[in-house]
Amino acid sequence: MRKKIVAGNWKMNLQLNEAKQLLQEIKVLEKNVSDVKLIINPPALYISLFRELLENSVIALGAQNCSEHVSGAYTGEIAAQMIKSCGATYVIVGHSERRTYYHETNAIIAEKINRALASDLSPIFCCGELLSEREENNHFNVVEQQLKEGLFHLNENEIKNVVIAYEPVWAIGTGVTATAEQAQEMHAFIRKVLKEFYNEAVAQNCSILYGGSCNASNAKELFANPDIDGGLIGGASLKAADFLVIAQSF
Ligand code: PGA
Repeated sequence: MRKKIVAGNWKMNLQLNEAKQLLQEIKVLEKNVSDVKLIINPPALYISLFRELLENSVIALGAQNCSEHVSGAYTGEIAAQMIKSCGATYVIVGHSERRTYYHETNAIIAEKINRALASDLSPIFCCGELLSEREENNHFNVVEQQLKEGLFHLNENEIKNVVIAYEPVWAIGTGVTATAEQAQEMHAFIRKVLKEFYNEAVAQNCSILYGGSCNASNAKELFANPDIDGGLIGGASLKAADFLVIAQSF
């Protein structure tokens, strides 16, 4: 049975004291959540300290990005193996902000996926179309291509460790959420493509999260759908109470 997951993507927000405070609030509330895997993706600088602060907690940690290289002279980059050594178990790969602002191609993303898996990190692989691509009715093709070029070089054993997040770019940080129907339709499509490329077991066991202005008011309606296994939450993950409501929305 696939996992229900609610992952917070804190992006480039919160100074250390604020971040510690939010972590503390989430830790207190975590007791009210059951059967849901909670993952926090803070700025990478905080992971090591957070690992210590989360002793005895089931909350998992992830980074928001990793380098496509193993190690070496790449000033400013962070290697997957470093992330792992600081106590994270997940890493977001291919977020649309990375694709857009840092020109990450599907080929680069495929390499990042490889680095993550080689370091025993579970990638949270992001895919999703631009508004113009949806308006041209090209959204299924775009997502399928992102999956094929970024992910489907993995074998059956490897893909089992991947979480997929469908994040329509037009919904991220805009307050415009995909309707539950639009999200379910794409999630079902992703599962169908997984089945065609791999098999039924891979498709059924893969957690597919929705991301893009998912919040405390709309999470329930989204998560009620059969192919939506949780959310990758940006803005609303910065408030502990909202994050908790979302985690209780199954
Ligand atoms: P948002 O961000 O919830 O603020 O739209 C989601 C994401 O970018 O992962």
